[in-house]
Amino acid sequence: MNVEGRRYRTIWLKEGDPAVVRIINQLALPHRFEIIDLRSVEDVRRAVKDMYLRGAGLIGAAAAFGMYLAVLEAGSAAGDPAGFEAALRRAAALLKDTRPTASNLAWAADRMLALILRTPGGAGEKRERARLAAQEIADGDAECCRRIGLHGAELIKVIAEKKRGEPVNILTHCNAGWLAFVDYGSALSPVYAAFDQGIKVHVWVDETRPRNQGASLTAWELARHGVSHDLIADNAGGHLMQHGMVDLVITGADRVTRRGDAANKIGTYLKALAAKENGVPFYTALPSSTFDFTMDDGLGEIPIEERDSAELRFISGKTAEGRIETVQICPDESPARNWGFDVTPARYITGLISERGICDASEEGIRNLYPEGNPVPLRLGGSMPEESFPADFG
Ligand code: MRU
Repeated sequence: MNVEGRRYRTIWLKEGDPAVVRIINQLALPHRFEIIDLRSVEDVRRAVKDMYLRGAGLIGAAAAFGMYLAVLEAGSAAGDPAGFEAALRRAAALLKDTRPTASNLAWAADRMLALILRTPGGAGEKRERARLAAQEIADGDAECCRRIGLHGAELIKVIAEKKRGEPVNILTHCNAGWLAFVDYGSALSPVYAAFDQGIKVHVWVDETRPRNQGASLTAWELARHGVSHDLIADNAGGHLMQHGMVDLVITGADRVTRRGDAANKIGTYLKALAAKENGVPFYTALPSSTFDFTMDDGLGEIPIEERDSAELRFISGKTAEGRIETVQICPDESPARNWGFDVTPARYITGLISERGICDASEEGIRNLYPEGNPVPLRLGGSMPEESFPADFG
């Protein structure tokens, strides 16, 4: 997407120095646009853990590039194959240990590990193969999101036709825009596609406490693209729905089970309840890599990340003088608990928007889109042959 007239993705290899992975520092947004360099597996681990980058698709792509850096660090495969394999397994475990909820991260790390270990030849071949594979995962993520946009825009178009030129009001939670993926986004991709097609859209942006990804990232993205939006308090959505001010809710997802239960940023479930009560369609947008077909019951099975209570007890922002400061917002003695995600049961979800189209949030609906039973991402080129993956990778 464009920032000040320049096209960016959220992660890429540095031109002229492919041993460096570059990312947009999301901790600095919305007040400063900053690019940072990652040069080692440890850099990637820290960037994911401390949320310099975040969002399901992007942490998946980061894990893929992290595995590529692991190959560079491991040195010569030919000299010590056992040591090489052990180093790669350690890197995959380290990366997977950073954040538990989004499927994309483990999916990408496992996929890269399997591919690298199966690549014949010496260090040079493995290095090149890992670089191409990481790039392909990133390209696949961007292309999936682009297609999600085209499918989702059709939904918006139907509502726009009924509203005869009035803007379509879409509520979203957290940031499932291009910053959460490699490009385009999941929940926001249909908004961008509809906007680019000339459909009038307006977005209600949940602030998304405690880390405020809505206020700092979604609002920033929408402003860059020129999309009309208003920031709202997390608790305002129900009120707006009761008063007919929301035509459609679209959120992203971090993990979706084979029966359509969806984990997403904490607070999503409450929006889904309010949407159901008020007859507002509630859609979940996701690329294939967010499905987890090994899981059925989202409530019982999806691991929910609990993060540092400091994220709740303190808040950061810009002062009138332009300084970034952090302040405490609760009594010194009050502890806090900080769950990062919740699960919306499939029965509250009107439909799932993936790169393959729109389906019911049910085992049958998902199976219709994924008859092979094991979603694999779009293949863009010839660098990742099917036979490189064991059947249980997907
Ligand atoms: O904790 P985050 O910011 O990495 O949360 C993940 C998310 O961005 C959201 O849950 C999002 O809606 C789904 S990921 C595109």
